[in-house]
Amino acid sequence: MSIPFTGSIHGGLQEGKIISISGRILPGIDRFHVNLQCGSRTNADIALQINPRYDSHPGYVVTNTFQNGKWGSEERKSNSLFPAGSTFSLSITATQQSFQLTVNGSHFMEYRHRIPFTKWTPFQ
Ligand code: GAL
Repeated sequence: MSIPFTGSIHGGLQEGKIISISGRILPGIDRFHVNLQCGSRTNADIALQINPRYDSHPGYVVTNTFQNGKWGSEERKSNSLFPAGSTFSLSITATQQSFQLTVNGSHFMEYRHRIPFTKWTPFQ
């Protein structure tokens, strides 16, 4: 698979759906992100961005939502579960209230929805 990868969530996002992403973080990288974007239009809303950053010390993971052309307020956590140079597996479970983020089998964080499921348009 080549990076950046873009794909649709088949059947749309529904409660109980789990999105699994695995990869290897390049040593020396500044940052990378996984976006759950609402459709493919330019400037489309991003319901969730997960954005590990290594360009400051200590590093951290930003999670945020891009809505109506603007980023919202950032939630920040340590990036220690995403060490540069290592492989990771991330799963994102959609629940009615939030996304549950699991990294390498351990709970990482809960991100409460800012864009409700009903506004998702996966196949544009
Ligand atoms: C900005 C950055 C965006 C996005 C956003 C998340 O500073 O330019 O790409 O990561 O933070 O809050």
